[in-house]
Amino acid sequence: MKTITRRDFLGKGAMLAGGAYPAMMALGLLKPAPAHAFNLEGSGKGKHIIILGGGLAGMTSAYELTKLGYQCTILEARQRAGGRCWSIRNGSTNQETDKPTATAKFDEGQYFNAGPSRIPHHHELTLHYCKELGVPLQVYNNVNEGAYYFAEGKGALSNKKIRVREVHNDIRGYMTEMLAKSIDHGSLDSSLTKEDGQKIIEYLQAEGGLDIDKLYKASARRGYTESPGAGDKPGKIADPHKLADLIHSGLMDPDFYNVAEYTYELQMTMFQAVGGMDQIAKALEKKVAPMLKMGAEVTAINNLTEGVQIKYKDALGEHVLIGDMCICTLPLPVLSNISNNFSSDVSRAIDYIEYIKTGKIGLQFKRRFWEEDEHLYGGITHTNNDLTQIFYPSYDYLGKKGILIGYYNFNEKAQKIGALNYAEREKFALEKGRLIHPQYNKEFESSFSVSWHKTKYNLGGWAVYNTDTRKTQYPALLKPDKQVYFAGEHLTYLNAWMAGAFESARSTVAALHARVTDGRASYPTVK
Ligand code: ALA
Repeated sequence: MKTITRRDFLGKGAMLAGGAYPAMMALGLLKPAPAHAFNLEGSGKGKHIIILGGGLAGMTSAYELTKLGYQCTILEARQRAGGRCWSIRNGSTNQETDKPTATAKFDEGQYFNAGPSRIPHHHELTLHYCKELGVPLQVYNNVNEGAYYFAEGKGALSNKKIRVREVHNDIRGYMTEMLAKSIDHGSLDSSLTKEDGQKIIEYLQAEGGLDIDKLYKASARRGYTESPGAGDKPGKIADPHKLADLIHSGLMDPDFYNVAEYTYELQMTMFQAVGGMDQIAKALEKKVAPMLKMGAEVTAINNLTEGVQIKYKDALGEHVLIGDMCICTLPLPVLSNISNNFSSDVSRAIDYIEYIKTGKIGLQFKRRFWEEDEHLYGGITHTNNDLTQIFYPSYDYLGKKGILIGYYNFNEKAQKIGALNYAEREKFALEKGRLIHPQYNKEFESSFSVSWHKTKYNLGGWAVYNTDTRKTQYPALLKPDKQVYFAGEHLTYLNAWMAGAFESARSTVAALHARVTDGRASYPTVK
């Protein structure tokens, strides 16, 4: 049999026009083009790029630059790469600035994502890198109508867990009923035609589950007090909660606004890496391992007339590295404390751009009671206390044990809880959590908490811009300061997302490469 060669195949040019690609791929002659491939041309000619920080932005920069012929060195202060893309497992350690090193004691195989835990379906570059690096994904369940709202307070519905579906459907029912009535009575200040008004009323009836008289009554949408079953079991439905009780119990307060789930980034479908989000960091690390210097803490960044001089210290002492250019991905609160000779605009931006205070605790339980007793498979319970929220894992469903994220809080709440020691944080998470899940009492095993704004080498969760800092400070860091480029989620409009690290890495690599290959100083600008 004559074997078909690549040349034979490509010689049959006519076939290419007629759908030969699938056949070529089947023969292994063509590789499927990855979506979002990063196809830059030209060579980096062995130029030495020093990359500060071995998180996603730093490692992606090195990965892409190496493909282009650059020589890279990544300086990573920790003995672990990945930065915030970090899953806590048995033996994971963390160092907060005012505390001794903490070590996680979980069962083998158990983990929680201390940093990113969910990937929006439209973060194409994140999905692309997972594909390119061979990281399998699974669906992350971000929205669960079966989870709870828990409002501390003095109302009739306070201090008890209420299924989200009850609150959502009751509020939706009451709101649509009010609006339908207003349209009916002609009391809406609008110039609706009668026909349009009728259409809207029909829509409201469907949206709110209103009856024929446009009234909101009990409905199976809000769940059953007794489940339907076989034979004589049609199921029992409870009456809606009273609107006044919902209001006075705080269930219509901002803590429970449903808007988070409406935001573009948090809409389903969401994904996560199978086996922990750190699988993404680990896959990248494999690609750049020879370039990674671990335990290398940067102490000075200086532009030279040509090139850069980076000082760092590790277990062996102080070192000086000279490179052609640098990509600095260090979080700004960390960079702010490092000696440099940046321009005043850049220094100001580094000091002014704020980072969020945020913290999470993972709680390992002997039994997945939230699934076994309460039908909670992923999703989030919201509270108005300092827990803010409890996340149920969207993996290992129906397994033996599991780890809940016992709180995930922000700003003042994160500051207050972050100020506690590890044992006090655990006590707090258990005390508040058991009000919702009394099973905590019997089933709790161990915890590990991370306060990102106190974590050495992070000192914050992610960059938070306001209109002023976005306009006045952000642009200074989008340009290189002489030979030093900046990259990371903080240099995007995708703050707090891995996609920010990936997009920024590519944007910076493209700008640096354009300068090397054709002398253009190109960089993204703010419109
Ligand atoms: N991306 C962060 C989260 O998913 C904000 O919570």
